[in-house]
Amino acid sequence: MSLEAENPVMTNGNGKAATATPKVEKTPVAETPAVAPVAPVDPNVVMGTYLVPGRPLTPEALAYYYDQNVLEAKENYDANDWADPEQMYSQFDFFLSRVDLNGKTLLDVGTGNGLFFEYLAKKGIKPASITAIDISEEQIKVVKKRFPEVDAIAFDFFKYEFEESYDYVTLFGVAPCLKFIFPQKHRVSALLRLMERSLRYAKEGVAISFLNRNCYEMCEIENYEYTYFYPEEFCSLLSGAKYEISTVDNDLVSNCFIHVRDAWDMPFRFNMNRLDDALNILK
Ligand SMILES: C[S@@+](CC[C@H](N)C(=O)[O-])C[C@H]1O[C@@H](n2cnc3c(N)ncnc32)[C@H](O)[C@@H]1O
Repeated sequence: MSLEAENPVMTNGNGKAATATPKVEKTPVAETPAVAPVAPVDPNVVMGTYLVPGRPLTPEALAYYYDQNVLEAKENYDANDWADPEQMYSQFDFFLSRVDLNGKTLLDVGTGNGLFFEYLAKKGIKPASITAIDISEEQIKVVKKRFPEVDAIAFDFFKYEFEESYDYVTLFGVAPCLKFIFPQKHRVSALLRLMERSLRYAKEGVAISFLNRNCYEMCEIENYEYTYFYPEEFCSLLSGAKYEISTVDNDLVSNCFIHVRDAWDMPFRFNMNRLDDALNILK
């Protein structure tokens, strides 16, 4: 056996000695497995891909995302994640063209940084009272600072129990966030829960906007975190209700206004059993 073989020298490509490696006496170490154990993958966890890459989709991740947005954008429309302010204003216009909010009570869910209230003030519209709720504490901080007359609550709409009901409940841009709240549920089932809960607190009507799936078919394939809906899905859930839906304001945002009383002047309620049946058939 040659000396070289017993005491090898590292060489570079030219066969010259590269670095001298001092010979270190090895101390025995506890045996470690060659491959670190891999944490079991929890099939119940849906991970974020675009908005919060690598984070599980949870209400906390949603709050975190909007906290960051508003810390950066402050009082601007993009704190609310709109690509274009017209998308945001189309929702307000649709609602305000259908109701006279003067002297009425309003609950604004997913209020963001409160630009809706700025819009109302610009138009000279004075509701009797405004209550606002958002899961992002940072959004609510901005609302409290800018609109002290608004009763602003930092909480998940699905967990907060309001003590009263309101003439109108508005949900602008909330339906797109449903995957964070119900990552395991079919999107229509999640939507149903959102609308059912809103109607519970509304005396006259609910305005709800959504991202139009017709113009963003890629979203399912790409597993976007935002949830998109076909207008047909909305209409199928609202059978029996008095409602108006607009899919033409612009390509992306669709708006819907649901009257709490139906065409027979009876309170519109979702028949959860009937809908469950229908949804099961469609699965
Ligand atoms: C797309 S932004 C829209 C903000 C504003 N309404 C607008 O139209 O410009 C959605 C807002 O809804 C809030 N949100 C979503 N789901 C919520 C929930 N379950 N409870 C409370 N806030 C929620 C988010 O934190 C975010 O501020």
